[in-house]
Amino acid sequence: MKYEIKITKTTCPKERPQDESKLGFGRVFTDHMFIMDYSDEQGWYNGRIVPFGPLEIHPASTVLHYGAEIFEGMKAYRGATGEICMFRPMENIKRLNNSAERLCLPQLDEEGCLDILKTLVELEKDWVPRADGTSLYLRPYMFGNDPHLGVHAVHRATFVVICSPVGAYYAEGINPVKIAIESQDVRAVRGGTGYTKCGGNYAASLRAGERAEKNGYTQVLWLDGVERKYIEEVGSMNVMFKVNGKIITPALTGSVLPGITRKSCIELLKEWGYEVEERLFSVDELFEAAENGTLEEAWGTGTAAVVSPIGHLFYNGKEYTVSNNKIGALTQKLYDNLTAIQWGKAEDKHSWLVKVCNG
Ligand code: COI
Repeated sequence: MKYEIKITKTTCPKERPQDESKLGFGRVFTDHMFIMDYSDEQGWYNGRIVPFGPLEIHPASTVLHYGAEIFEGMKAYRGATGEICMFRPMENIKRLNNSAERLCLPQLDEEGCLDILKTLVELEKDWVPRADGTSLYLRPYMFGNDPHLGVHAVHRATFVVICSPVGAYYAEGINPVKIAIESQDVRAVRGGTGYTKCGGNYAASLRAGERAEKNGYTQVLWLDGVERKYIEEVGSMNVMFKVNGKIITPALTGSVLPGITRKSCIELLKEWGYEVEERLFSVDELFEAAENGTLEEAWGTGTAAVVSPIGHLFYNGKEYTVSNNKIGALTQKLYDNLTAIQWGKAEDKHSWLVKVCNG
């Protein structure tokens, strides 16, 4: 099902960034955005692409008081062949609907949502950057918008998509990051919203992230909320370890986000013959491996940074160096292979790319 998309083009297009090597992450936005409203009575209605600008929001809106908000992060790439493609967009759309179900927000028609994304990216195609390692980051998000203060499931909502040309997520780029293991705050608990991409999960993560940064670390490694023992995620990414030749990554127990980069890495690793264990992995087991020399590599996976090597781990007053603080061979291979597919430089054997338009 396709949604109505009324297009109003901007009359004053912005100047695009001259130096794409300095884009950073999420600071520059394109000329247009998509907005669509929802009510129980009308379903989704008034889909429109309008000039990028502030949203008008009722001061009592559900999102402002009770945090009913979910989002996705995905990218459009200018490929080596000149085509503009998205990477596994249906996975993001399905996860958006799973998040919506948990937060009592309305469902989107999957094909309709893909059509919205394609229409917006095609309109903004000149904003898809060309420099190596850059892409157009798409941020679809949905929020509850009932104009009253009762705590109830959402009856009115808004769906928005904004686009931002981006480079590397971390200032370190693909260089190893320093990670502190967080033993005080938790990001999510089973039965809560950890498996969804809702704003609240990220709000809960900010204090620990700030603390880590003040102490000279890039991000934190999250432990489970009950026993504070099992590793869950790193910063806003999934995490993987190479221990004694095998790959270990935390199982999707309900408090861990089912990452699309995580899923893609697992698929590639299995194809390359690695044994991948998705299971509970305790911080004690991690440090035992670090101490006995079997921890070979550690890395985060996510849409924004793709693959991010971990060079240092700090826990309980002790600091461990991973892979001599260098990007490990397998981490590099994953990064190279995944990005080669994303930028159309390698054969897309899995049909992960969805063409939007010619560039
Ligand atoms: C991702 O890498 O997929 C993320 O979710 C990061 C984003 C919250 C900035």
